[in-house]
Amino acid sequence: MKNKVTIVGAGNVGATAAHWAAEKEFADIVLIDVIPDMPKGKALDLMETGPVEGFDTKIIGTNDYKDTANSDVVVITAGLARKPGMSRDDLLEANRKIVYECTENVVKYSPDAILVIVSNPLDAMCHVAKAVSKFPKNRVFGMAGILDTARFRCFISMEMGVSVEDIQAMVLGGHGDTMVPLPRYTTVAGVPITELLPKEKIDAMVKRTAQAGGEIVALLKTGSAYYSPSASVIQIVEAILKDKKRVVPCAAYLEGEYGIKGLYVGVPVKIGAKGVEQVMELKLTADEQAALNKSAAAVRELVDIMKL
Ligand code: 2OP
Repeated sequence: MKNKVTIVGAGNVGATAAHWAAEKEFADIVLIDVIPDMPKGKALDLMETGPVEGFDTKIIGTNDYKDTANSDVVVITAGLARKPGMSRDDLLEANRKIVYECTENVVKYSPDAILVIVSNPLDAMCHVAKAVSKFPKNRVFGMAGILDTARFRCFISMEMGVSVEDIQAMVLGGHGDTMVPLPRYTTVAGVPITELLPKEKIDAMVKRTAQAGGEIVALLKTGSAYYSPSASVIQIVEAILKDKKRVVPCAAYLEGEYGIKGLYVGVPVKIGAKGVEQVMELKLTADEQAALNKSAAAVRELVDIMKL
């Protein structure tokens, strides 16, 4: 039987995610949005790309959650994107309602799905999806770390003139300004960048990584990044559908790991057919742990506001 993936929200992130997924041919795709007809238009446009690009993926655009029934994975991208000058946290009120409603509808038709959250503020929105769905923690988690590490890897590649393929990176914490890129666990061909680059250069890239979403918002002026966020979430979907056991940072529900309880925060996890199959615990220095605690506190503040 073919896999089925629903993408909720047919805006820039959702539609581009459908594009990456269509090329991979790993599932039928349903693209759903509240805007009448728009997802149908985007889905049809993508289907008509198949003959050119050589994919046979079936893509349905819809406004009706019935069409999403029995999805294996549901990606939630719905919600507002920030505009210049806004932080992701400024989207809390508007997007919590949207994510609440989408999750309610999704779980009605796909009670066994794995939910991957992309809407911002991402870690807080994972709490909304978990509270509404009542799914176990392995089946509700958020994409963020893959995007944040991709940005860090990109900056290192630009700085050193080496292939992104040979760079591994680690970023912990919430998907916000307090995120914690970890240079000690970031390597080029296995060598930590702390042995390859001067501290000032690393510090500058760490800062740029933490602010990288805002950098794109300031340039686009009408919305936020979508190529890299959508590619990142499709890497997660692929890891689930192919049971790949990828080890990547995601927003996962912690119950004591890293000394954090009852909170979604970005940490390295193992992703396979069951969703988040394991939280990997890294040894942190006192400074790294303090930075992670600060980032977790920022997420906790948003979660407390929502009183879920
Ligand atoms: C970003 O970091 C949209 O949160 C996303 O660009």
